[in-house]
Amino acid sequence: MDRPRRLRRTPALRALTREVHLHPSQFIHPIFVHERDTVTDIATMPGVQRHSIESAVQQAREALTLGIPSVILFGIPDHKDAVGTQAYAEEGIIQRATRAIKASVPGINVIADTCLCEYTDHGHCGPLCEVPGLSGADAWTVDNDASLALLAQTAVSQARAGADVIAPSAMMDGQVAAIRAALDGAGFTHTPIMSYAVKYASAYYGPFRDAAGSTPSVGNRATYQMDPAGGYREALREARLDAEQGADTLMVKPALAYLDVLNLLKREFDLPVVAYNVSGEYSLIKAAAAAGFMDERRTVLETLTGMRRAGADAIITYHAMDAARWLSEQV
Ligand code: PBG
Ligand code: ZN
Repeated sequence: MDRPRRLRRTPALRALTREVHLHPSQFIHPIFVHERDTVTDIATMPGVQRHSIESAVQQAREALTLGIPSVILFGIPDHKDAVGTQAYAEEGIIQRATRAIKASVPGINVIADTCLCEYTDHGHCGPLCEVPGLSGADAWTVDNDASLALLAQTAVSQARAGADVIAPSAMMDGQVAAIRAALDGAGFTHTPIMSYAVKYASAYYGPFRDAAGSTPSVGNRATYQMDPAGGYREALREARLDAEQGADTLMVKPALAYLDVLNLLKREFDLPVVAYNVSGEYSLIKAAAAAGFMDERRTVLETLTGMRRAGADAIITYHAMDAARWLSEQV
């Protein structure tokens, strides 16, 4: 009889024959930075905080100590306006935080999320414009081409502040090409673009929007983020467009409900694929664990392992610090 159980008999045998490996070097730790001197809890994301610049520097140092080489920064500005000025301001929160982190923790890889939604007063990922001839809810949309110029300006200002990687998340058509051209024009030919290539209009972003105060005040993001029921054709098209425009890595977001898409991109493209284990996925586990319904440590490590098995080279995850600690404790 063929007995697969022989190789499962002891921890050593299981470890010896394992195909999928989880390591802190694959994690990207997200940090929310606000323009305050305080550190505040985020009600919808237990264990995650909005940090001051000083505390963000400390977070970066801690990540590196745990073997996590990368952080991704999200800014929460004090002042928002219709065109998201603080996203590309020289003294913007991300620009200041990036300079501080790179000065104190030079070994850390700083990834800048490049979008306007945390900086616009209406909460959309670019400025709004009217659609001629239409009325009511269809009479306005996010102005794609006006957004491109602002996203490019944001990327250059982030690179000037010392960001190692630019991560555009606005889902505007042509954003990777616009950012690549602007970075090259400003002399940042060596700065990679980690594109949020395949990003769905998802309910799983709910806790993040609470954290960043970026819930759209009118309408929703379904006119630019992807339809969850869009299928593989749309995912391949978005990934191909970003690859052609010069994306250095592709991303699938959210991760869990889209692991099939992640696996497809892994097989179809010769670019690294990043999984974004988003806020809602994090909060589901935290809530279940707090209620005593599930074991947090086992659930988190199993979830991250599943993303790796599906094909993720790297994972953006709010569990990064905990997972790194748990991995260092186990043999
Ligand atoms: C900004 C952005 C979002 C996330 C990352 N970058 C929010 C959104 O599109 O509403 C979501 C992250 C998360 O839920 O953890 N464009
Ligand atoms: Zn956005």
